[in-house]
Amino acid sequence: MDSYLPSLADYELVVRSPGRINLIGEHTDYNGGFCLPAAIQQSLYIGLNTSSKTQFNSLNYNELRSIDNLNQCSWGPFLLHCLEFMRSKGFEIPPFNLRFGGDLPIGAGLSSSSALCCGFLFALNDFFQYNITLEDLTKFAVYAEQGTGVIGGMMDQISILNGIKDHALFIDCSTWNFKPVAAHLKNYCWLVIDTGIKHHLIDTDYNQRSRTCSVMKSKLLAKNIISNHLSELQLEDIPSLIPELTELEIQYLEYVLEENNRVQQFVTSMNEADVRRLGTLLFESHQGLRFKYKVSCKELDLLVDFAMKDDRCFGARMMGGGFGGSTLHLVNQHNLSSYLEDISQHYKSFSGFVPNYFVATIENGVQRIQ
Ligand code: GLA
Repeated sequence: MDSYLPSLADYELVVRSPGRINLIGEHTDYNGGFCLPAAIQQSLYIGLNTSSKTQFNSLNYNELRSIDNLNQCSWGPFLLHCLEFMRSKGFEIPPFNLRFGGDLPIGAGLSSSSALCCGFLFALNDFFQYNITLEDLTKFAVYAEQGTGVIGGMMDQISILNGIKDHALFIDCSTWNFKPVAAHLKNYCWLVIDTGIKHHLIDTDYNQRSRTCSVMKSKLLAKNIISNHLSELQLEDIPSLIPELTELEIQYLEYVLEENNRVQQFVTSMNEADVRRLGTLLFESHQGLRFKYKVSCKELDLLVDFAMKDDRCFGARMMGGGFGGSTLHLVNQHNLSSYLEDISQHYKSFSGFVPNYFVATIENGVQRIQ
């Protein structure tokens, strides 16, 4: 992490923008449901300086760009859409020099793109003293990132900008309200294993899921069955909705409503430190994502299937948008190294390589560090 900081030593402002894990509540955010993410230690470090000409420099990719060719690299469109969004809101942006890099893995389901957008907007706000509130910055980050073409929700941006050390945020995505939930379990840890299958949500079926849900929402709004979000519904409502919706829509809806229930039960079980129940909910979440919402992939399933048969792990599931990325495992700390060794070997015998992993440390959200 700190290895990036010397390259930013001369910068007038440096912001740390973390990635996030999500304990539970997947694909619920754009459906007005519940989720439970947390900002983590792995971060992007973003430096800003005044300059006569605007320039962008990615340390991880070793790429330098100007406004004119910013679109021609994988990370450029995120920054461009942030700038366009700020200009559309009437903010004047003088020329600047931006440099960023960090230890947050890219395309691993840890929200590196949102970390970039949130950190960039936060840095601009601080540097040019726009006095935008954190609440508005969160909205800006969501809308700017949607401009890149991913019809995502607000879970990532809320947790990255508002994260609280050692806590997950229980978010009600129908109102964007959130409250901290202590996420530290004595003797247990949150282990993240990266399948190495890279995903860019825009290239996956993520948008297809989001669109199907939005079509479903329009149908139910038109019939006054809901007034805002699919998550207003309860599982008991499903039989009466069968005439209104397609079979696939019912399947997705069932997943979303079950996942919302799981998030609420998870919060209760966190407060009771009921590790067995937490683990069961994680496994159930994965099965829902795999068989009902169908956003998993064989590499994610392989890791979770291993966890299900191993009593050193209490629960595991895929995390984030899916189709690759990482899994989250709730593991007894005493067994961590032997569990890691075995699951890594198992994964290697299937994929040919040892997966990257880390034990998540839950940290504060975006902050200025220089
Ligand atoms: C991605 C999106 C989030 C959310 C998750 C799935 O991370 O950016 O808004 O929809 O997928 O829970």
